[in-house]
Amino acid sequence: MIEYRTLRVALLGAGSVGSRVASLLLEHGDELAARVGARLHLSGIAVRDTAAVRDVALPQELFTTDARELIVGADIVVELIGGIEPAREYIALALASGADVITGNKALLATHGPELFDLAEQVGAQLYYEAAVGGAIPIIRPLRDSLAGDRVDRILGIVNGTTNFILDRMDVAGEDFDDALATATALGYAEADPTGDIEGFDAAQKAGILASLAFHTTVPVTAVHREGITGITAADVESARKAGYVVKLLAICERIVDADTGVEGVSARVHPALVSRQHPLAAVHGANNAVFIEAQAAGSLMFYGAGAGGVETASAVLGDVVSAARRHVVGGPGVAESTSANLPVLGMDRITTRYRVTLQVLDRPGVLAQIAGVFSGHGVSVEQVEQSVPEDGSDGTATLVIGTHRASEADLSATVATLAASEPVQSVQSVLRIEGE
Ligand code: HSE
Repeated sequence: MIEYRTLRVALLGAGSVGSRVASLLLEHGDELAARVGARLHLSGIAVRDTAAVRDVALPQELFTTDARELIVGADIVVELIGGIEPAREYIALALASGADVITGNKALLATHGPELFDLAEQVGAQLYYEAAVGGAIPIIRPLRDSLAGDRVDRILGIVNGTTNFILDRMDVAGEDFDDALATATALGYAEADPTGDIEGFDAAQKAGILASLAFHTTVPVTAVHREGITGITAADVESARKAGYVVKLLAICERIVDADTGVEGVSARVHPALVSRQHPLAAVHGANNAVFIEAQAAGSLMFYGAGAGGVETASAVLGDVVSAARRHVVGGPGVAESTSANLPVLGMDRITTRYRVTLQVLDRPGVLAQIAGVFSGHGVSVEQVEQSVPEDGSDGTATLVIGTHRASEADLSATVATLAASEPVQSVQSVLRIEGE
């Protein structure tokens, strides 16, 4: 039997992911040692309450409430407590003590990422975070390493399982938003307070992380445009279906050229969008996640799988533990975060896309021409118009669905503002962007 050297792994947090990480480390110790060339010794698990019941049974002697003592004695620290503090303080302490750190804490990375990456670089330590986006799906390492020689143009991601589950129920089962949310809550996908998911905060944090990596540019979460899915109605989903689309909450990160200045920049946004049923993302059902990447040399790539779940996310964490451990065995500085491109992050008004605008209008002569005039007056080209009237034709109104050619968000917003204030328009029922084309 080979006597491997030992690397001390400190685990912070024993929730659904942390407890699985601990149990896999204990269960697969021999196999991991052979793969790494060092034995991964779980030196302890820091928790708030050592007596709490865990998802999996773990040796009681591993638990401690003294996180700091555990951290300073470790070679590798795995932070799975979530939130900003004390996670930030613990990670900073671990890096300053020379340990490599693994975290799945997207909220922390989205708000304090640059300061933690700087600290890691100063001390020659590494900060790994595969579990922060897309749960089990390998997406950080492909962007950071595999595609580092290519040029990524665009990322379209379904990076929030709860909202994908809700929108999928609305599409497949015909539920309205409230019923679909209730189903998601009953099945344990949505949290008691679902705001972070349904208002797009979780997806925006992930978009900032993906955009920063893909474009070698710091994209703070504050620069990510965010809209949630609470305004999506059963009628929107049904109308989309009839037109060959499905509604998805997308995180979209892309290179764009500012039409006014000609300067290349990047944009990151999260909002519900219409996706053609032919697009690979349309086939992502339930609470699954997928990230679709368009790169100049590689072409289109899609990464698909479980975006959450204790044991699934533990797989991504353990992959990082093995990478960190191998670096300890063979030495070397590892991979630094690259913000070398440092492109400007452009505002939402700079993006261009196609739109589908649904209006309730008075059904009388000249209205169509008047509405077409509003679009053309703002430089927005109409591609398609569909009109429907109530079956008995009684209330004197019609529903108009207007599809546009590619237009700027600034021009489209101005168009919608003028439409909303114009006399024959009774209401602007929805404005949805068409993506993935
Ligand atoms: N709440 C997230 C989701 C999982 O619904 O996908 C953690 O990021």
